[in-house]
Amino acid sequence: MDQISTLTLQPDDGGMSEAARLLGKGKLVAFPTETVYGLGADARQDHAVARIYEAKGRPSFNPLIVHFATLDAVKAVVDWSVDAQKVADAFWPGPLTLVLPLKPGSGISKLVTAGLDTLAVRMPASKVARDLLRTFDGPVAAPSANRSGQISPTRAAHVVNGLSGRIEAVMDGGACPVGLESTILGLAGTPTLLRPGGVTLEDIAGVLGKPVSERKDGEAISAPGQIRSHYAPRAQVRLNAVDWQASEARLGFGDVSCDLNLSETGNLTEAAANLFEYLHRLDATGAQTIAVSPIPHLGLGVAINDRLSRAAAER
Ligand code: TXA
Ligand code: MG
Repeated sequence: MDQISTLTLQPDDGGMSEAARLLGKGKLVAFPTETVYGLGADARQDHAVARIYEAKGRPSFNPLIVHFATLDAVKAVVDWSVDAQKVADAFWPGPLTLVLPLKPGSGISKLVTAGLDTLAVRMPASKVARDLLRTFDGPVAAPSANRSGQISPTRAAHVVNGLSGRIEAVMDGGACPVGLESTILGLAGTPTLLRPGGVTLEDIAGVLGKPVSERKDGEAISAPGQIRSHYAPRAQVRLNAVDWQASEARLGFGDVSCDLNLSETGNLTEAAANLFEYLHRLDATGAQTIAVSPIPHLGLGVAINDRLSRAAAER
């Protein structure tokens, strides 16, 4: 791949119009959302979408999430439903992605859906993402802005470390407040949780007024965040560490002594926001192993444990 120079843009008027101009020309622009940084391209341009896969080194069977500024723009490309309306009312804009039937003639590149007849759609909450989507005024396909298989970026510097020379620009909007990718809810059939994330299963079931099934490991992979080894730092990861071994980098949770603490007070929201940043930092120390305290399996802890178990999976 030819090296290109990667611009850092500020989230002001000048930065927004430059980012929108680049997207319109089929270029790649990474931008912050409330969850993680996304690697954006115009979802209608095959060549632009192909470059996402190239820049990430991502296996091309993985479909992408498309980001929108308005509900009308979403409804123009997917079959909307009563359930979709309920969860959108409750959680949009926000860290929830919906998988819905794709409308024929939607104009979305087939490379985005990897040939599926459904589309993953999301309306992000972060002001910078919304400003960019409004300025561009078109659908933006964006996976997390990391090399395939590596830790998701929650700061512009993480994006630059992974993708500098491979993308045209990154918009610097500071740290991502949620810090974990969106929850993915399948609504093309029975409501099914495809990936745990920033909105919990209980919250969704409460709003829908009916149970939500969970995709079991071993079923066909419909979301690559579901590939077992994913989100992997260079170091090995040891989970549920109740004591530390010499030479390990220690990632704590709660009242423990350690190198970095996800949340000293045991707050799961704070832990989620810190997770990827701290994995990046401990990985950069060169330690062979990162040991992680047990994280309670409730609320956002479900999504945190999901990412940690993938980071620890055999590669
Ligand atoms: O928070 C997020 O969702 C971030 C930000 C940038 O929005 N994006 C993100 O994208 O995490 P990515 O590409 O890393 O993960 C997208 C997930 C994948 O696991 C993919 O398989 C799933 O969405 N997905 C996309 N389209 C799908 C579809 N039609 N059916 C099922 N899963 C789908
Ligand atoms: Mg990802």
